[in-house]
Amino acid sequence: MEAAHAHDDSHDHAPSGLMRYVTTTNHKDIGTMYLWFSFTMFLVGGVMALTIRAELFQPGLQLVRPEFFNTMTTLHGLVMVFGAIMPAFVGFANWQIPLMIGAPDMAFPRMNNWSFWLLPPAAILLVGSLFAPGGGPGAGWTLYAPLTVQQGMGMDLTIFAIHILGMSSIMGSINIVTTILNMRAPGMTLMKMPLFVWTWLITAYLLIAVMPVLAGAVTMTLTDRHFGTHFFNPAGGGDPVMFQHIFWFFGHPEVYIIAIPAFGVVSQVLPAFSRKPLFGYPSMVYATASIAILSFLVWAHHMYTVGMPVEAQLYYMFATMLIAVPTGVKVFNWVATMWKGSLTFETPMLFAIGFLFLFTLGGFTGLVLSVVPVDVQLHDTYYVVAHFHYVMVAGALFSAFAGVYFWLPKWIGKMYDEKLGKIHFWLSIVFFNVAFFPQHFLGLAGMPRRIPDYSLQFVDFNMISSIGAFGFGLSQVFFLYVLLKAIKYGEKAPQRPWEGADTLEWTHLPSPAPYHSFEKAPQVK
Ligand code: CU
Repeated sequence: MEAAHAHDDSHDHAPSGLMRYVTTTNHKDIGTMYLWFSFTMFLVGGVMALTIRAELFQPGLQLVRPEFFNTMTTLHGLVMVFGAIMPAFVGFANWQIPLMIGAPDMAFPRMNNWSFWLLPPAAILLVGSLFAPGGGPGAGWTLYAPLTVQQGMGMDLTIFAIHILGMSSIMGSINIVTTILNMRAPGMTLMKMPLFVWTWLITAYLLIAVMPVLAGAVTMTLTDRHFGTHFFNPAGGGDPVMFQHIFWFFGHPEVYIIAIPAFGVVSQVLPAFSRKPLFGYPSMVYATASIAILSFLVWAHHMYTVGMPVEAQLYYMFATMLIAVPTGVKVFNWVATMWKGSLTFETPMLFAIGFLFLFTLGGFTGLVLSVVPVDVQLHDTYYVVAHFHYVMVAGALFSAFAGVYFWLPKWIGKMYDEKLGKIHFWLSIVFFNVAFFPQHFLGLAGMPRRIPDYSLQFVDFNMISSIGAFGFGLSQVFFLYVLLKAIKYGEKAPQRPWEGADTLEWTHLPSPAPYHSFEKAPQVK
């Protein structure tokens, strides 16, 4: 029988060109598409961010109408969260999980194809909502009622986009869970899996748990808008605060849906460039799981100011502070991984260390915001904006860059230009801080978020922030250049691109990374 198949039939009839990508069930192709989609949406969301920063460069209204400004803040958030960051990490999952656990592909390859191809229509709906009669959605990415009940058709398109994105995420998650639980190579026990795989297993459960909650929230908004219900509209006896509870029951775990795979990438990169196994592997697994569980119990820290009882405020404050414990475990383990390692500082390592510093800073401002009396002052100010951009950009995005530079040689078989990669890192980290650090001061001084105009005392920091934002945006165009140059002209990558430091080698160890690993450095070839 085998001899009859001297040549591979499926290959001869495999579609090429665009049809190859439309019909592909290959986890690598799908991973690549996820990553390019993510990068495209990153640029789209970036243009929206720069529209915001251009308007805020100086006080007064000059560039856009206030309604359009609101649409920009809304769509920038939705596009970046659902279009840029989440698909980037699903792209990593598609590429790396089968390779890391020794599976031939994802468990449901056709569903994998569908998960991806739901994204472009959702993106078209989301961006297309800008051109809907009555304009795009202008309620902020949190879509608070009752504002959402009153807006035009753009809101309906946004709601449908969120439904589709949710379906895509749930299908992707089912695929990831099934692949990890059923398709590991013999001997690859759960506690031997590379940490990136663990973080995605946990993230996938989070997604399956909370995406339906978001779907419920926006569906109730939809029926409020068109079918005469009054879930959230006080005019009919509804409760707008209920929307916030439902939204944030999704929204807080969502933060960790973004952050946990980022932890996973960093947990692969830091050991590789430290030439040491990850410090405290089991505690990393348990810390990640604890963060995921706790993330369900703190949602109302986004809502201290809605008029909740002081007992509830105290509960949410202490529960939120509790999350700092497992997060601290992770940060200490990362530092201990580098401790006494033979460190080198190629681009992936630089981004991972950048992540470590700045994500931790974002974590600390989160801790500041968890304190009720402080939050009452800072609620809805630029301090909050600064906080979550340290988590989302310097956290998730920098980790994604670390992952791209780290795995690119394996993906395309070619090396990127190390010097250009380092330039990309330094441009990014400098301009990121120029853009977002001053926003802490703006927030402390009382500048509200989501407002297109501001009073004169905020001018200086806004100008600095806008300059930083444009610099950061241009740095990412430079990243595109680095990427394209690597794809077209890159030197052939060696078998083990990070000489003696390829993370995949940890999976060849007979046992999980030893957790008292201070003195144990494996051989550097
Ligand atoms: Cu939260």
